[in-house]
Amino acid sequence: MSVFIASDHAGFGLKKFLMEQLNAAITDLGTDNPISCDYPIFAHKLVQHLLSCNPDESRGILICGTGIGMSMVANRYDGIRAALCFHEEMAEMARRHNNANVIVFGARNTDNDVALECVRIFLNTEFDGGRHENRLHLMNELTKRR
Ligand code: RB5
Repeated sequence: MSVFIASDHAGFGLKKFLMEQLNAAITDLGTDNPISCDYPIFAHKLVQHLLSCNPDESRGILICGTGIGMSMVANRYDGIRAALCFHEEMAEMARRHNNANVIVFGARNTDNDVALECVRIFLNTEFDGGRHENRLHLMNELTKRR
């Protein structure tokens, strides 16, 4: 499974922390410093990498100040299901019920250790399928997305 991570300046510190703590091969797509930058550029970059792999077998981690901007951008792309998570149960449910392929954090509202545990859960939890399959199908059909 390929895993990508990206942030803007507000998420740079949390991204650095996660990269140091996670004992996994994760591709860092920037930003590379805490200088002010535009989050849509980094969300777009991460999504392009995810979509160039099989997005159902790859994962993304996006971080900005609140998590809101990154979520908005990522969820505009077909095949991307980005979940803004504030605690471990949300990370678990994002995988089990929503088959999320991107987890999003707001660095200004999420403790580093909580985010780390959320990522561990996110990378190690399978989609439940079953009744949730049809809900994802409806999500695509009703919004004309794939
Ligand atoms: C940057 O100040 C901030 O607006 C950005 O990180 C993010 O929170 C946007 O949604």
